[in-house]
Amino acid sequence: MHVDAWRGKTVVITGGSSGIGESLLGILSKIPCRVINLSRSKPDLIAKAEKKLAQVSADLFHIPVDLSSEKEINKAASKLAKITDGVDVLFNNAGITAHSRLDQTQMEAFRKAFEVNFFGPVLLTLRLLPYIKKKKGVVVVTSTVSGLYGIPGRSAYSSSKAALHAVMESARIELGEDGLRFVIFCPPYTKTNLRANGLDGDGNRLGESHFQGKSKSPEEVARRMIRAVEDPNSRLVVMDKSGFFLKWMRNISPSFLEKVLFQKLYKDFH
Ligand SMILES: NC(=O)c1ccc[n+]([C@@H]2O[C@H](COP(=O)([O-])OP(=O)(O)OC[C@H]3O[C@@H](n4cnc5c(N)ncnc54)[C@H](OP(=O)(O)O)[C@@H]3O)[C@@H](O)[C@H]2O)c1
Repeated sequence: MHVDAWRGKTVVITGGSSGIGESLLGILSKIPCRVINLSRSKPDLIAKAEKKLAQVSADLFHIPVDLSSEKEINKAASKLAKITDGVDVLFNNAGITAHSRLDQTQMEAFRKAFEVNFFGPVLLTLRLLPYIKKKKGVVVVTSTVSGLYGIPGRSAYSSSKAALHAVMESARIELGEDGLRFVIFCPPYTKTNLRANGLDGDGNRLGESHFQGKSKSPEEVARRMIRAVEDPNSRLVVMDKSGFFLKWMRNISPSFLEKVLFQKLYKDFH
């Protein structure tokens, strides 16, 4: 990490109260910069820093917002305008997963997944664009390897993330000449609360325990995301062979890719 690249910067993070976002917040809190978190609950670190129970170098702010509410996002953008008139980096990181096979998925699950994973970040990006333009800033979305192909048992999750890829790509072409950058970051399995907080096929809370296989720590993912922002050539970033495999195999041999996904994830959709 290049600390100097972040010194004095204004960074907005969504979902800093848990998992990958919490790690991003923790890392950046050690640098003299300004970090504004948007989530429903206040991150522990910000609560502790306010009570002088945690030592931080950054100025930390929390703006409560439910990203599934247009009204709350608009209100949050107005609050943010009172803190800063420029945003160097927006991490559109907050998200929810959804697990169910398509023929057992109600529209409610699609709607809820799209509210948080697609409409929320798109609206927030639109509201913050004037501030991002001012700083020729970077917009990062925490997508997932499941956004690189329609994953079995994940149609609502995969589609809500894949749709966001298209918006980032359009924006990159349109706003690149204004000096803005758009990074799609696709982490593999990461040890967080994502599964517990996700949705089942009816759109209710999933409450699944954590994935038992090999997975990254949120800290590792956050550090790699920070490096992706520092690299001016970052576009679609994957971290490991699961990401490389999906990214390339969808074009090279989708039929082989589908066979692998069928076998590997069979239990997930049966
Ligand atoms: N964990 C993985 O295996 C994995 C893999 C690839 C990609 N990702 C992506 O990484 C991102 C972060 O997830 P995580 O794994 O760190 O999960 P997490 O621990 O469950 O954290 C999710 C964060 O999103 C926020 N959030 C959820 N719904 C929200 C809403 N309606 N309004 C505002 N904030 C909301 C939560 O804050 P509040 O509850 O306080 O609102 C929380 O801070 C997600 O976009 C996810 O899709 C995760």
